[in-house]
Amino acid sequence: MSSPPLSVVVLAAGEGKRMRSHTPKVLHPVAGRPMLGHVLDAARALQPAAIHVIHGHGAEAVRAAFPDADLHWVHQAERLGTGHAVKQALPQIPDDHQVLVLCADVPLIRPGTLRALVAAAPQGVSVLTVNVADPAGYGRILRDGGDQVHGIVEEKDATAAQRAIREINTGLLCLPAGPLRGWLDTLDTGNAQGEYYLTDCIGLAHADNRRIAPVLCTDPDEVQGVNDRRQLAGVERACQRRQAEALMRDQGLGLADPARFDLRGTLTVGRDCFIDVDVVIEGHVTLGDEVRVGPFTRLQDCVIGTGSEVLGHCDLASASLAADCRVGPYARLRPGTELGTAARVGNFVEVKQARVGAGTKINHLSYIGDARIGDGVNVGAGTITCNYDGRAKHVTEIGDGVFIGSNTALVAPLHVGAGATLGAGSTLRDDVAADSLVVERGERRDIPGWRPGRDEH
Ligand code: UD1
Ligand code: CA
Repeated sequence: MSSPPLSVVVLAAGEGKRMRSHTPKVLHPVAGRPMLGHVLDAARALQPAAIHVIHGHGAEAVRAAFPDADLHWVHQAERLGTGHAVKQALPQIPDDHQVLVLCADVPLIRPGTLRALVAAAPQGVSVLTVNVADPAGYGRILRDGGDQVHGIVEEKDATAAQRAIREINTGLLCLPAGPLRGWLDTLDTGNAQGEYYLTDCIGLAHADNRRIAPVLCTDPDEVQGVNDRRQLAGVERACQRRQAEALMRDQGLGLADPARFDLRGTLTVGRDCFIDVDVVIEGHVTLGDEVRVGPFTRLQDCVIGTGSEVLGHCDLASASLAADCRVGPYARLRPGTELGTAARVGNFVEVKQARVGAGTKINHLSYIGDARIGDGVNVGAGTITCNYDGRAKHVTEIGDGVFIGSNTALVAPLHVGAGATLGAGSTLRDDVAADSLVVERGERRDIPGWRPGRDEH
């Protein structure tokens, strides 16, 4: 028998009061991506016929965060309970579909677990459960003498004996659309919270003589829900642990301490890369082979070539490094920085929108912005490109093999020909010819025997 088409319903209308935030709960990020995004990724992996997102609180912000064309947005104007929420989507779901209900605040769910839940009852009812040490706050799974599931009772409605049950409802269920329509119509609000409980459909299905297939999830992290900041932080750690383990296992990444590594995006690494403690990776980052990243460094949207090293306390954003570069410690590479092979950028150097040639060194205390620097250039300590005149940015071009003495100010627009030497302390406003020596600094005056306040000159 072929399995019926699948419609996913994601519950995302809640406000998340306990977060105490202006941001709708489902937009709070886990590993740099809104929680709802994680759940949608897992749902899409099942290639369902449709994904319906029930939204209400902060509706516009939630929709704007996910402009994806494949989503059906269903507005729940009043939050009257999980049963009411699912009911809003049902007019759009044909009777012969299976309905997989997911919660946007349960972000670490894996596609494999969802597949197992759907497969457990191809045309019937299945519920994802988990055994926890502390079941407080969750709906409890009710089993009869023959171990058959026959209902779910919410904590607030449970008897003392029921509260002792440690098998809880994860909130993730799969039900057949046709009968579900009837069950949802039968729900009432005669319970402790005065809500339409989706969970009551389990009892109704049982009363209809349908078998309820429980699927026991063995990884509690996967079904951890987020209601407050403490749980959000716990889910973040679990997600980071999972990502770090995958990088070590699947890509052979060396991590000094997987518990002190944060990935908020995607990381692709070559062979024998090593990342020291307290490194944050954001956006899309690619490391070649044998790249080393020092402690307390952030890389955002960077490409780092084979054999390159980024030392500690650096901040790199939208920068690309060719092979064998060395950056830092304490360097800042801003967007548009491109370093050629074996370039060096040292401590307290800021570079933005600049191409730096192969073998070029900018080792100490410099600002290089809007520049094109050739190969084999030595940029002395304290060199500054004066790229901004208060109105517009201007470009500085430095030819191959130029030697720039320390404390040089390059007032852009400026072109320095290949092989030129610029004397220390110069402030250069005009272009410099290739292979020439230029020194531009105030004349030295020596005044012998001068005493403060007496002599005037
Ligand atoms: C729910 C389950 C409980 C389960 C727990 C797992 C019910 C009645 N209870 O309880 O058995 O153990 O999840 O985490 O289903 N939502 C809407 N519209 C509404 C109400 C809720 O979209 O009108 C959304 C929420 O945003 C949330 C999800 O549904 O994403 C669950 O709602 P919540 O109020 O958090 O239910 P719990 O009390 O946690
Ligand atoms: Ca919840």
